[in-house]
Amino acid sequence: IGNKIIHFNTIASTNDYAKEIASSLEEGTVIISEEQTKGKGRLGRQWHSKINEGIWMSIVLKPDIIPYKAPFITLIAGASIVSALNKLGANTLIKWPNDIILNNKKISGILTELSAEIERVNHIVLGIGINVKTMEFSQEISDIATSLYKEDFKMSRVDIVRNIFMEFEELYMDYINNNCKEKTLNICRKYSAIIGKDIYTLKGDSKELVRCLDINEDGNLVVQTKDKIIKEIMSGEVSIRGI
Ligand code: BTN
Repeated sequence: IGNKIIHFNTIASTNDYAKEIASSLEEGTVIISEEQTKGKGRLGRQWHSKINEGIWMSIVLKPDIIPYKAPFITLIAGASIVSALNKLGANTLIKWPNDIILNNKKISGILTELSAEIERVNHIVLGIGINVKTMEFSQEISDIATSLYKEDFKMSRVDIVRNIFMEFEELYMDYINNNCKEKTLNICRKYSAIIGKDIYTLKGDSKELVRCLDINEDGNLVVQTKDKIIKEIMSGEVSIRGI
C-alpha cells in the first residue's frame, strides 16, 4: 500500500479521480491531494477539504474477492486509522462503521466506493479524510466536527499517513490472503464509540432506538431493540446517530 503515490496540490475529489483511472492503476496506489474543491462525504454530503488542513486521500484496491466481502474493508480502514492515530498519542474511537471520533466529535470519515460485477470486484476506492490542522469549521458542522490540532494532538501528516499504510497493509493482507478478521475485529471492539451505548439507527424514514451489544464475526453490529429482540445490522444498511 502506498508504493505508488499520485500527489496533487488541488483536485475536485481524490475518490472521483481514482475511480476514473482505477482500471489503469496498480493495487495499492494512493491518490492524495493538499486540497479538494469538491470533497465528497457519505450520503451525498460535502466534505470540507481545505488546503494543507488535513489528509485527503484515496487508496485503490483490487482484491480477488466476491462483492459480499467488500464492506469489511471499511472496517479494516477504520481500524487502521484508529491504530495509527492512537499509536501517535491520540485517543480516537470508531463509530462503526465509517467515522472516527475524538472527544465526542468527528475527526475522520471513510467513503468506500465499490465497482463490481455479480461475482467479482473490479476495484474498490477507499476514500479517507482526516481533519488534522483545521481550527475553524463552518457553522453547520462546528458542533460535531473537530481536528487533531484543535484537540491538542499536534502530529505530522506524513507520520499519520505512513502509519496508516503500515497498519492497513497488515490487516488487509490478513483478510485477503487468509480470510483472517480477528485483529481488525478486536481493534473495532476495543476502540468502539458505540458498544454498550444507546443509539438511533436510521433507515429511510424509520428511526429506532437500540442498545449496541457487539460487533460480530462478520463485522455486523449486534443490537438489542426495546422489545429485547436481538438484531444484526450490516454496515452500509443504516446510519447511526448518538444520543
Ligand atoms: C464521510 O464521513 O462522510 C466520508 C468522508 C470521506 C472524505 C474523503 S477525503 C478523500 C476522499 N475524496 C473524497 O471526495 N472523499 C473522500
